[in-house]
Amino acid sequence: ETEPLVIFMPSGKRGRFPPGTPVLTAARKLGVDLDSVCGGRGICSKCQVQPSFGEFSKHGVTSRPEALSDWNAVEERYKSKRGMIDGRRLGCQAQIMGDVVIDVPAESQVHKQVVRKRAEAREIVLDPCIRLYYVEVEEPDMHHPSGDLERLEKALAEQWDLAHVEGDLRTLQMLQPALRKGDWKVTCAVHVGNGLTPARIMHVWPGFHEGRIYGMAVDLGSTTIAAHLCDLQSGEVVASAGIMNPQIRFGEDLMSRVSYAMMNPGGASEMTVAVREALNALVGQIAAEAQIAPELIFEAVLVANPVMHHLVLGIDPVELGQAPFALATSDAMTLWAAELDLRLHPDARVYVLPCIAGHVGADAAAVALSEAPHKSDDLMLVVDVGTNAEILLGNRHQVLACSSPTGPAFEGAQISSGQRAAPGAIERVEIDPATKEPRFRVIGCELWSDQPGFAEATAATGITGICGSGIIEAIAEMRMAGLLDPGGLIGSAEQTGTWRCMPEGRTHAYLLHDGSAQGGPRIMVTQGDVRAIQLGKSALYAGARLLMDQMGVDSVDRVVLAGAFGAHISPKHAMVLGMIPDCPLDKVTSAGNAAGTGARIALLNSAARREIETVVRRIQKVETAVEPRFQEHFVAANHIPHASAPYPNLAA
Ligand code: FES
Repeated sequence: ETEPLVIFMPSGKRGRFPPGTPVLTAARKLGVDLDSVCGGRGICSKCQVQPSFGEFSKHGVTSRPEALSDWNAVEERYKSKRGMIDGRRLGCQAQIMGDVVIDVPAESQVHKQVVRKRAEAREIVLDPCIRLYYVEVEEPDMHHPSGDLERLEKALAEQWDLAHVEGDLRTLQMLQPALRKGDWKVTCAVHVGNGLTPARIMHVWPGFHEGRIYGMAVDLGSTTIAAHLCDLQSGEVVASAGIMNPQIRFGEDLMSRVSYAMMNPGGASEMTVAVREALNALVGQIAAEAQIAPELIFEAVLVANPVMHHLVLGIDPVELGQAPFALATSDAMTLWAAELDLRLHPDARVYVLPCIAGHVGADAAAVALSEAPHKSDDLMLVVDVGTNAEILLGNRHQVLACSSPTGPAFEGAQISSGQRAAPGAIERVEIDPATKEPRFRVIGCELWSDQPGFAEATAATGITGICGSGIIEAIAEMRMAGLLDPGGLIGSAEQTGTWRCMPEGRTHAYLLHDGSAQGGPRIMVTQGDVRAIQLGKSALYAGARLLMDQMGVDSVDRVVLAGAFGAHISPKHAMVLGMIPDCPLDKVTSAGNAAGTGARIALLNSAARREIETVVRRIQKVETAVEPRFQEHFVAANHIPHASAPYPNLAA
């Protein structure tokens, strides 16, 4: 063997190639994941590689004749324009001359892993539905007449192996000027289809499109709507935003919104209009934050509970208010954004995750996608805490799901000083069991309230209220400090030994923070707050318990706590409150906004869409609303942590 040996890292794939073979060609032959948008023309720079042993030839290869005479004109031009890390080469230009080990940096991989923050455990592999393709299109020829679109389709097929690409009237309208302006070279954004639907050209830019294209993952909750804007080529989250769901004015919880639709002719469409307007406001907000035009958002992924799912789609949710809770459809859907009045790119798509059942929606499917109980050896309990809690119990053999009406308290609503998780909101609380004095942290500041510099650090945002995870910690801390009895009653100053427990109406409240001297609010935990959290946590526990009954188990191996609002729910505090069944504390983890993460996975990875569509069909649904034991479990769970269930792991 005299042909040079080439080894690609980190995959370790290897092969021998004739001298002069471009690195990109070798990578393709070996199935190495090396990106390219321009098809090896030295324009996109997506193919950057680095030799870690051996060297490449100094000669470049290119389809551009002017570069042939000058060995690395293409790379030089790129370097001078945008800079390139020293030692890196464009894979499509560098040729293999001798034995070489080639590093493919993460940014040059198509299916790169997108970094996820904090405790969110699953990596996302980038494999979006919409991709950019740079092509050189034949010029029109009088003697062989064919249209611009036909020649573009031919170029996509020949240069990118994209067969059966469709374009519509809008494509045609863009194509003519783009081809001429780009001197017969254009970049296309193509929705690659899903094997059932053909690939479609969504946009055409003259020449090589330097800009980025975006997608948006939306978690449409009953109380709040949250969105992440992602760069579809890097997978990076470039902006995040959240707003209150304006449907709150039609009813705090889902069932009151369903009754609004029942009682008021046109009520459902009123709510549809309201939520779509809110989505457009959110699009505006997130696009402004990222400083991009909303038209550059090519796709949105939507997850929602069944009622929100129906309302945003413009389907009457009345059927969901009564047995047998029939969904209009439980399948995943790919729609046009324009059908939902969403002002994104005019051809943008919206992918809606499948629903599990009439009470267990696409948000629960998204949680399943993110936390993957169906892939776990351990028996996992996954609870997504919102106005409705989505609860999954299972392992690789079986997964059960239900939802439970916890009320909006966990999202900071119906809490006297409650607010959305935003800078200025108290998110962590500790109460000294001896002195009963609190210390806390607010979102946007790393310091605790008793640390030097805290006042200065929070001066800009102020201390504005308490978010979902904050109220959970506050009440659990109050219980541990003896300010609350097991029934949830806040004691008086005499009973508790602290002036912070003060009368409030006919009950007592605990003063967490008094900002009145600085013109800020007094943040109290009132008896009403404790009751709201007790109702919520009892519903949560009862739902989890019901699934455990159904599966015939008394304990679980692992608990994952997820919640869109409030930062990360503290496992210890959740257990002190009895939100979840007993479990070793080190087996309880917090996953942040799992439904939002699931939406983001579906946005960035088209295979994940197929995965969740299959998994959802296997999930068994348990209907809490018609299950008599739910009420029993609910009542017993009202105590903190519980009237009868043991919590050996808490004592430890
Ligand atoms: Fe585009 Fe190499 S493939 S620059």
